[in-house]
Amino acid sequence: MKKEEAIKKSRELLQDEKVSGFDHASRVAYWCRYLGEKETADLDALAIAAYLHDIGLSIVGLPTHHIESARMAEALLREENLPEERVKQIGSIIEHHAMRAPEAETTEEKIINDADRIDHLGAIGIVRAIARAILVKKEYTGDVSDIPILLRQAIADTKKRVYTETAKKIVNEKALYVESFIEQLEKEIAEAQ
Ligand SMILES: [Fe+2]
Ligand SMILES: [Fe+2]
Repeated sequence: MKKEEAIKKSRELLQDEKVSGFDHASRVAYWCRYLGEKETADLDALAIAAYLHDIGLSIVGLPTHHIESARMAEALLREENLPEERVKQIGSIIEHHAMRAPEAETTEEKIINDADRIDHLGAIGIVRAIARAILVKKEYTGDVSDIPILLRQAIADTKKRVYTETAKKIVNEKALYVESFIEQLEKEIAEAQ
């Protein structure tokens, strides 16, 4: 499978996904390339894995989506007659992208984890966290004052597992922006009480 084919499949399979859609997959592909160039990783395998890493999300939900996405991607790659070793390699990269996944071992597994973590913070991360809260989080009651707790949780979870030094710097910078947003949000909530 070529990158272009993975892009096509990604766009098709993620069309109804509202938080980790094709735009998210494309950003993860960007960060995989960015980090992969610095770590001399397998950029082709990472690109295919990035575009397909969340394709199982709408089918099985967040807790096991990394396993389902890997299984689905492996099936697609076998259909394209990729060598079994390559299929397994890309499947394993996908399986390691999530926060709930086992610890990454290869450079590519570490990079996809880091790329996915970066998209959890910054202005984009705030938009995605709020969208996720409205769509799936039971903790969100619809009260704006729930959001600082959810965003602080997002910062803490994201920072728990970042492997590369480059990604750590990016994550810390984006976390500072989220903290400043929380500060302003809490100020506005207190002001109008
Ligand atoms: Fe994911
Ligand atoms: Fe993702």
